[in-house]
This record gives sequence, structure tokens and C-alpha cells, in this order.
Amino acid sequence: MISDVAIQREFLTQIGAAHYLKSVNEAASHVVASAVRPVRPGLIDGAQALRQIVRSLSVIPRSGLGLSPVLEEVAALVVPYSTAVSDTRYVAHLHCPPAISSLAAETIVCALNQSMDSFDQGPAAAVIEQSIIDWLCDVYGLHDGDGVFTSGGTQSNLQSLMLARDNLAARVLGVDIATDGLPLESRNWRIACTEETHFSIATAARLLGLGTNAIVRVGIDSAGRLDPRSLQQVLKASQACGERVIALVLTAGTTNRGAVDPLADAIEIAAEHDIWVHVDAAAAGCLMLTEHHRNLLDGISAANSISVDFHKLLFQTISCGALLVRRRSDLDIMGSHADYLNPADDDLLDTLNHVGKSLQTTRRFDALKVLVTLRSLGLDTVSAMIERTLQTARDAAEAVAAHPNLELISPCTTNTVLLRWVSSDSSPLQREFVNVAIRQRLASADHALVGRTRVGDEAALKLTFVNPVCTPAAARKLVARIAHCGNAVAAAAPVGCL
Ligand SMILES: Cc1ncc(COP(=O)(O)O)c(C=O)c1O
Repeated sequence: MISDVAIQREFLTQIGAAHYLKSVNEAASHVVASAVRPVRPGLIDGAQALRQIVRSLSVIPRSGLGLSPVLEEVAALVVPYSTAVSDTRYVAHLHCPPAISSLAAETIVCALNQSMDSFDQGPAAAVIEQSIIDWLCDVYGLHDGDGVFTSGGTQSNLQSLMLARDNLAARVLGVDIATDGLPLESRNWRIACTEETHFSIATAARLLGLGTNAIVRVGIDSAGRLDPRSLQQVLKASQACGERVIALVLTAGTTNRGAVDPLADAIEIAAEHDIWVHVDAAAAGCLMLTEHHRNLLDGISAANSISVDFHKLLFQTISCGALLVRRRSDLDIMGSHADYLNPADDDLLDTLNHVGKSLQTTRRFDALKVLVTLRSLGLDTVSAMIERTLQTARDAAEAVAAHPNLELISPCTTNTVLLRWVSSDSSPLQREFVNVAIRQRLASADHALVGRTRVGDEAALKLTFVNPVCTPAAARKLVARIAHCGNAVAAAAPVGCL
């Protein structure tokens, strides 16, 4: 039998408080001991070996082992095999190092364990999230705007297209999709975007019952940005064959190239056709907080909805993102009432239940992390940190462009550098082999973990700079290493061998 005192010790009670402080400190110490000086930036293979190690643990022993030994065990197992997101050698993804301010706030978020669905599950949390949303609406120039925190870009994109679909059906057809489902007309509904658009838009099309065939691709220019002339043509062609484009998705910071679509021009064209415009600014949305790069987002305030992620360029722990809408009434379509959470009469009482705006019910108080980072660092520092990542990327891109054995595939606009190893006499097969090998060699020698993708059906390498600690000089050194590694691989496997 477990005693009452023993149970209390395991929770945040008076008796458990000391255990909590000791345990959180212990956990943090393990992170500091090994994660601060990682031996490698990460792994790109080895799942089988890891499975074996993990299999040796029995998940639930009959008698508990005690927290300290388990924390030690977990630290030994997890930390060395984790991707070192705070290490400057890790440049593979839009996956940021968490700021200390975010980690500290996370401790409060976790311990208080507030839930955002109803006011009575987190009164301060409800009000703080709303005040951050209101502030974001000001930042993005959405003067009648509103929004909600989300788990990130994927969820924000899904919800934006749901709003586009349901508001259109209500306004144009008088159909309430929430109760009646999709009308017959939906067979002809289309979502316009480019081939550079994040795949979560295709997932959203599937979930919303439109299917991926509803996606029509707009052409891009050589830098991977939507071409407004192509947009005109696509809209005209859709109209001519009886289709209706219900949403145009623009991207600010494409996943591969970091490109920003021409927001103002495209939104103007869409407005002529009465089309909902969603800007997926998951990657580059935080440039709004910079002094020198916010102009890249000019025109964004005319969008109907915007996705912005803070677990990318605002150095927040996962997860942390938001969906914003230009007209607050556009969120009304989400509204539903659960008697136990947000009964209809709560609206009359001005009770702040965020569940009516979200796809989630139980939801984290991530807004606190944003507040703590912004208030503790201040705008100048936040701006300088974000700008450092862009400067580092530009320096890396310059080094790529200047190297005879590297091709800069796309101009660097934000924090992504897309490149590949080349040589004057290389065949496509050799380039494929060398570029794949570069990533593997850099990772296995613990020099760097770089990203990979395909452009024009050829292997490409991707450097994503989201770590302000990484200096432009370090980025130039990495580029030189990539070229050196490529040349070494090519010399070992010359053209004739492939
Ligand atoms: C442009 C863009 N949109 C959406 C997403 C998805 O965001 P999340 O991973 O936060 O769901 C990403 C992820 O990298 C992205 O680059």
C-alpha cells in the first residue's frame, strides 16, 4: 500500500515541492552536462542500433526505480543520441535552438499545466494568450484581427483553409458545412499555390474533403517565387472551365529556398477574384520583428489569414505557433459549444474560452514563452538575433557562389542556402553520388548535419541558419568544408566510374 505522504511527494504539494525543485534541477544538470558540449551535431542513420538499446529497458518495472536513477539513465540514453539543436554544426532544418528565456518559461508552463480551452482551466493563460494575439495582430497590421495559438504551421495551414472553405460556402452558397457537409459545388473548388508550397497544404486539402486534385499549381520564377502572370493565367483558366479557386496560398519563407512570394501583387490579383489569401509565414513570419528585413513581408496585412511559427525564427521550444485572421468574425465559423467547457451563455458573460477558436481542445499555454522571450530580451535584441541568422546565411551563400565547385541553386533571401557540389565535367549521376555522400560524410565525421532535398530532380544540399550563435565566419568555413568534401569524394569516384 502506498501512503498518503508518498503520493503527495509525487505531486506539486507542500510535501512534493522540495522533490520538484531537486528533480527539475537534476534534469537540467544532466542537460547541461552533456548537451552543452555535444560530441556530434546529430545522426542520420542508426535506428536499428538505437532500437536495440531502448529495447533493453523494461518500460514499467514492478517496483519503481526512483526518479534520480531514471533521470540518470534517460540522460545517458537520450542526450548523446539527440540532435544537438543548440550546436552551430546543426544546419539541417528549420529547427531552432531554444532560447534560455523560452526554456525558463517552459518550466512554468509545464508546472502550472494550464489548458487553453476554457477560462476556468487557466484564467491568466487565457488573457495572456489573447493579449499576445492582439499584439501580433498589431504587428501584422490586422486592425480588426484575431487568432489563436497552434501547434505550428501544419495546424495553422489546415485551419486557415478550413476557414476559407467554410466562410466561402456560407457567404456564397448559404451552406453551413459544419452541419451539412460539403455541397456538390465543392467538386469544383480549387486551392492555388506553387510547387514550392509546404506539403501541409496538400494534407489540408485531403482532410478538408477536397483532395489533392483540388490543388492547382501556379508557376514560379527562377528564385522559386510565385509568378503573378502565371497566377492570372491559372485563375483565368480555372474560371473558364467552371472551377472556383477558393484559396490562394502564398509563402513567406519557402521550406527549400527561403523564398518569399510577391505578397502585395498576388494579394491584389486574388482580391479581384474574391479569393481568400492565406500567407504561410511559418518560416519567415518573425521577420516582422526585425528592423532591416520586415520589408520582405510588405503587403502581408492584406491577407485573410497568416501562419507564423515561433518554434522557428523566434527560438521557442516546440511547439509554438499561431494562426491570425484579418477579420475577427471569420473565426466565428469555428464556434461550437460544449456544456462542460464553453456553454453559449458564457459569450454573454464575456468569458474567454479559447476552445471556440481552436482545432484543439486541451492545449498548451505556449503564449507565455513568447511573452517571456520578448519581454526579457526586448525588441532590439530579438531583432539582432533574427538578423544575425540572415546575415550568416548571406555570407554562406556568397561563399557558395564564389566557389568553382559549388552551385548556388537559388538566391538567398532569408535564412536558407540551397546548393550542390558540381564540376565542369560532372555527369548528373556523379553529382547525385557526390552530393548524397557529402551529407553522409559530414554527419559521420561529426563536422555538420546539413539538410538535403531535390531540385530539378537532382540531389541538393540545404543549409538552414536558425541559430544566432552561428557566426558568418563559421558558415563560410562550413561551405569550404562542403566543397572540400565534395572534391575528395569526386576524386575517389571519378566520372568514368559512375
Ligand atoms: C513554409 C512552412 N510551412 C509549414 C511548415 C510546417 O510547420 P510545423 O512543422 O510547425 O507544423 C513548415 C515546416 O518547416 C514550413 O517550412
